[in-house]
Amino acid sequence: MNRTLPPCVFVIFGATGDLARRKLFPALYNLYAEGILPSRFAVVGVGRRLADQEAFLADVWAAIERFSRKINPELRESFLALIHYHRFDLADKTGFAQLAADLRRIDNERGTSGNRVYCLSVGPDQFEIVIDQLKEHRLVSNNDGAWQRVMVEKPFGRDLTTATNLNAKITGVFPEHSIFRIDHYLGKEMLQNLVAIRFANALFEPLWNSRYIDNVQLSVAESEGVGTRARYYESAGALRDVVQNHLLQMLTLVAMEPPVDLSSEAIRDEKVKVLRSLQPMTPAEIRRNTVRGQYGAGKIMGEAVPAYRDELNVAPQSTVETYAALRLEVPNFRWAGVPFYLRTGKRMPFRSAEIVIEFKSLPGVLYFRQQPPIAPNLLVIKVQPEEGVAIQFNTQGMGNNKGIIPVQMDFCQNCRFPSQSPEAYERLIADAILGDPTLFTRWDEVAHQWRYIDQIAAAWAENGAELPLYSAGSWGPEEADQLLRREGRRWHVYQPQNGSY
Ligand code: BG6
Repeated sequence: MNRTLPPCVFVIFGATGDLARRKLFPALYNLYAEGILPSRFAVVGVGRRLADQEAFLADVWAAIERFSRKINPELRESFLALIHYHRFDLADKTGFAQLAADLRRIDNERGTSGNRVYCLSVGPDQFEIVIDQLKEHRLVSNNDGAWQRVMVEKPFGRDLTTATNLNAKITGVFPEHSIFRIDHYLGKEMLQNLVAIRFANALFEPLWNSRYIDNVQLSVAESEGVGTRARYYESAGALRDVVQNHLLQMLTLVAMEPPVDLSSEAIRDEKVKVLRSLQPMTPAEIRRNTVRGQYGAGKIMGEAVPAYRDELNVAPQSTVETYAALRLEVPNFRWAGVPFYLRTGKRMPFRSAEIVIEFKSLPGVLYFRQQPPIAPNLLVIKVQPEEGVAIQFNTQGMGNNKGIIPVQMDFCQNCRFPSQSPEAYERLIADAILGDPTLFTRWDEVAHQWRYIDQIAAAWAENGAELPLYSAGSWGPEEADQLLRREGRRWHVYQPQNGSY
C-alpha cells in the first residue's frame, strides 16, 4: 500500500489528558521526526486543563521529552508550530462554533482540504457530546472530496447494550468506514507480525491446530497498579479493561484461519469467525473456568506498594478485580479440544505480554524414561517489553549429562535497535490518516466481544464477594494456577535467572 499520508488536520479532544500526553503527542512527534506526516498538516488540541497556547505547548514538549522513544531538540520549534490549542468545556457550544471557524481558517492557511481525523481521547461519558456537536456544527460532511474520520478510544461501552447505543450514535454521523475504534494492542509490532509468522512459515503453519498444539496461553501482565485511573477502573475491572479487548483480539489473531488476502475486511472477517465460534459458558462453567482476584499490599522489585483498596479514589471495600484468568475453547474445526488460557493482572512481578503455544508431547517420548519428564516444545511470541519470538526445544545435554534438556532459540526484534520500534499509536495514527482500518476493531468484533464478556461479568457480579486477594508482586491468586494444574498443566513464565520458561 502507498504510505503517503494525505493532507489533514488531526483534532484531539482531551488534548490535556493523560493519554494525549503519554501516547498521542509522542506518537505524532515521532511520525513528524521520521518524515511520515504529510507536509500539509496541523494538530488541533481541545482541552480544559491548561490556560493558553503557550502553557499547552510547554506541556506538550515536556510530555514528548518524557514519553517519546527518541528525541531531537532541534525539531522542537517546527513540530510545535503545527499545533493549535482550544480551551473550552465540551458542554460549551460556543467553543465548538469557534473550533469550526478555526478549522476552516487552518484549512485555508495550510491547504488541509477539509480532511480531518477527530480523535476522541476523552472519558466515555463525553463521546456522545462530541459526536452531537460535530454534527450540529457541520464538522462532518464527507463531500467535495474531503473526508472526516473519527478515532474512538476505549472503553467502547461497558457492555453490549451501552456499546450498541454508542455505536448507533456514532454511525448516525460517521459511516462505518470512517470509524476507527482503537484497540491499541493491534498496533503492537508483534501482533501485526503474528500474521506473517503464522502464514509465511512452513515451519509453523502445518502444526497450528489441535493435532499438534496442546494449549495456548495469552498473558498481559503489568507491574503497575491502577495509578491515577481508579475512577474509570472502579467501574471496569480487569475483565472489561483488558480481557474484553486486548486479550480477545490476541486470541483472534492466534486462532483465525488464513484470510483470502491481506485486506482489512478479509482479515477482520476471519477474526469475527473466531469470536463467533466462542460458546457462551453456563454459570457452572464460569465458576469452574474463570478466576478473579484483587491485589493486596506487596513488593514490586523490592519496593513496597499499597493494596488496591488503599489506592487513590478506590472504595475501601471495593470488589473490583485487578486480575482475571479464564480457560476457554474455540470449538471449531481447527481448535476443538485445545484449551486457551487467558490472563491479565496489575501488580504482577514484571511487565510482560506474551503468547505461548505449547505443543503436544511426542508419543515416543517415554522412550527416554526421564525424570522430570521432557519439557514440551514452546513457541513464544513476545509482544512486550521485548519484541521477538523464542522457541524452546529439546536437545541432549553435553559431556557426562546425556539427559534431554530444554534449550531456547531466541529472536529478539527490538533489542539491537531499541528505539527503532514504533509505538503502537504511531502506526494507528498513520493508518487513521491513511484510511486503513485493518488495525482497528470493526463493530461486529466489538459486539461479539461484549456478548461473550457480558455473561461472565453478570455471573461475577452475582458472586461479587468471592474475590481472592493476591500479593502485589506475585503472579495472581492460587486459583489461577489451579485452573491449569487440575489439567496437568502450568503457566509458562519466563524465568530470567535460568533463561527458560
Ligand atoms: C489499556 C488499559 O487499554 O491497556 C490499561 O486500559 C492497561 O489498564 C493498558 O494498563 C496496557 O497497555 P500497554 O500498552 O501498556 O500494555
